[in-house]
Amino acid sequence: MYNIYNSGRIQGVKINMTEYATLIIEGKEYKLPVICGSEGEKAIDIRSLRQQTGYITIDPGFANTGSCKSAITFMDGERGILRYRGIPIEQLAEHSSFVETAYLLIEGKLPTQTQLTRTSVYLNDFSLLHEDMRSFYQNFPSKAHPMGILSAMVNAMRSFYPEFSDEDREFNKTFLRLISKVRTMSAIAYKISRGHRPVYPRPDYSYCANFLHMMFDNPVIPYRLDRDFEQALNVFWILHADHEQNCSTATVRVVGSGRVNVYAAISAGISALWGPLHGGANQAVIKMLEQIRDDKLTIPQAIARAKDRNDPFRLMGFGHRVYKTYDPRAKIMKKMCDLVLSKKRCKDSLLDIAVELEQAGMADHYFQDKGLYPNVDFYAGIMLRAMGIPTNMFTVMFAIGRLPGWLAQWKENSTDPEQKISRPRQIYTGNNVMDYIPMDQRHA
Ligand code: CMC
Repeated sequence: MYNIYNSGRIQGVKINMTEYATLIIEGKEYKLPVICGSEGEKAIDIRSLRQQTGYITIDPGFANTGSCKSAITFMDGERGILRYRGIPIEQLAEHSSFVETAYLLIEGKLPTQTQLTRTSVYLNDFSLLHEDMRSFYQNFPSKAHPMGILSAMVNAMRSFYPEFSDEDREFNKTFLRLISKVRTMSAIAYKISRGHRPVYPRPDYSYCANFLHMMFDNPVIPYRLDRDFEQALNVFWILHADHEQNCSTATVRVVGSGRVNVYAAISAGISALWGPLHGGANQAVIKMLEQIRDDKLTIPQAIARAKDRNDPFRLMGFGHRVYKTYDPRAKIMKKMCDLVLSKKRCKDSLLDIAVELEQAGMADHYFQDKGLYPNVDFYAGIMLRAMGIPTNMFTVMFAIGRLPGWLAQWKENSTDPEQKISRPRQIYTGNNVMDYIPMDQRHA
């Protein structure tokens, strides 16, 4: 018998590796099926647990809880593996384009040349924004965070494009519209924040080149496309395109499980991504580096503060819930970061701090023992800064990249016959029943 619990009334869990786990509570045995994934991961199926035993499970942060079966992305945090639809992330970063990767994630297979061309034509057709939507931007305060703007604008898309084209045999047009317009909306948010007129997309540019063009072109200094930056952005977005059941993707599935429209589910995902422990980490990395510089912290002082449990300071861009070894995306991101940095002429003191911090963190026993390695956000923040992307746009960059993954997961969830509305349970720890107290009898 393999004891998972040996206290209280739950006496043990025995796993028959081929078929079921036996849970023993108060001497009574319950058989729970064991589900096996295509890469050999195992899960105890507890769907009948409460009905059979009256017990629920508790797992804050869902670190041990699978919420679905999924055929989209495979991650192995111990071995540092990431694959989309079976294809290693390293191969996609080297050979694919972001648009092709989006097709792969959503449609489940690589496109033919004809399918890819058709996809690009639609992305071009959908790249303009309804003029009435453009006027929304004028009413956000000038300091509004572009993530808040993007989330609101995606939600607003539902009013402008209410029809959902579920008849498309390949690459749903609502999805294509979202992928194309999210890029335009993000670039406009930046332009408005600068007090500049939005720049229209160009039909002759790739998805990535077009974004750079809409961000940086202006009437007095026309943007000259840098092919290395285009490639770096392409890889950045491929690396961010999906990451199985992370916080924002789980949000998209949870919100989508109420059968809400896809725009609302994606808007919720954007909000979830915003946080500094998730997509906001790329922005938080730069803030941390600025703090180290402005407070004149030495690298050993910064490392010591990050290790101190009584100090909220953490090494942003280090650590990951799943990866307990080097994040495979970080390895590739670092190469792209080096490529961009090698082209940057001006010196940036923050980048020097970042390099020292990375080396010191990797060499420190605390980080080694806890399996805390630089994650994709550590290098992403540095690379985006070097490319001239303003810090408050970093998480928007992540959102554009993650959109195909959210759409693929939303689609899978919506068509999965096993899925139900997401509705976790809880263990109540509040007052037992008590009477209402009239106002004149209450004490502070
Ligand atoms: N700096 C210092 N200590 C850390 C760090 C860090 N960046 N990350 C984790 N730890 C410590 C933590 O204090 C805890 O120590 P102890 O065991 O003594 O209590 C231990 O390592 C485990 O950490 P945890 O917070 O319980 O781990 P988690 O899986 O809940 O959190 C994380 C994962 C990513 C939120 C966390 O590592 C973190 O806050 N990292 C910094 C933020 C960051 O870079 N986030 C981006 C993640 S990658 C992008 C994405 O996919 O979203």
